[in-house]
Amino acid sequence: MKATARAHTNIALIKYWGKRDEKLFLPMNNSLSITLDAFYTTTSVEFCTCLKKDIFLLNGNIMGEAETNKMTRFLDLIRKMSGSTLYGVVDSINTVPTAAGFASSASGFAALAAASTKALKMEINDDILSQIARQGSGSACRSIHGGYVEWEKGEQLDGSDSFGKQILTENEWDLSILSVLVEPNEKKVLSREGMKRTVDTSPFYTGWLETVDDDLTVAKQAIYDRDFETLGNVLERNALKMHATTLGANPPFMYWTSATVAVMQKVQELRDNGISAYYTIDAGPNVKVLCQPEDENSVREKLMTLSVVQEIYHCHPGPGITYLPNTN
Ligand code: PMV
Repeated sequence: MKATARAHTNIALIKYWGKRDEKLFLPMNNSLSITLDAFYTTTSVEFCTCLKKDIFLLNGNIMGEAETNKMTRFLDLIRKMSGSTLYGVVDSINTVPTAAGFASSASGFAALAAASTKALKMEINDDILSQIARQGSGSACRSIHGGYVEWEKGEQLDGSDSFGKQILTENEWDLSILSVLVEPNEKKVLSREGMKRTVDTSPFYTGWLETVDDDLTVAKQAIYDRDFETLGNVLERNALKMHATTLGANPPFMYWTSATVAVMQKVQELRDNGISAYYTIDAGPNVKVLCQPEDENSVREKLMTLSVVQEIYHCHPGPGITYLPNTN
């Protein structure tokens, strides 16, 4: 009753921002992401009659009540689907800097969904696996697949048509995604809370919803055409629009720090000097800079001249779920 799975995190090019159903994690809009090769979570789950509750280890440390309860709520869903009543030991190793806007929850819940359903020998396809992962963290539904992935919001009330679909594999178009770390500390407004506040109170949220579908259509076509300039322009605009909605919320909030803005301005400067690079930012202060592989080193060099930059991780499109042999 044990299985091990690895899932890679993803970066949204067209953002998921706002839920229409909080409980089922159903989004207001379709979103589009790239699964990243360098950041992943490897999770083993073992179910056992010997346990009286779930146990959660992250990077070798036993997690406290709040983290464990979150994981247990997710395993409850899987137990309900499978008919099992067994508790499990969840052992996760994360190569993603946790809660810094590098989407560690996406790889975390995708790996947990894959390992736990496999450990219980559930016969499910990737669409169902994606629907399950979605209910841990929305963006996790995109990490089931590698490469370029669209999360279709779906129309059904039960979420049965809301899951990630691959639109290009990781081998069909290589891009460089430089993950620029400016702030390693945990973010102040979690994405779940930030989305809710924005949907409930920001007058700019309607502007987001009115335009996001068009952004997605343009981005998707640019991916099919391997048209980096068009993709870069729309993904940057889309990120700025998402962040603009948070400024209109009540109370207002902002994920950027002055270091975030310094990186954004540097990318603009690179473009002014003829280097094609574009940025995007999720629910945290760190920045992802996209460029073509031949420009990767020069973009890195220029970004490293900023004193606020602590680290740059090089990422490329990466794979979907993989199952690994159990270690013991
Ligand atoms: O799935 P969550 O709750 O981590 O929310 C993700 C929200 C953004 O990262 C800002 C956008 C996205 O599409 O990943």
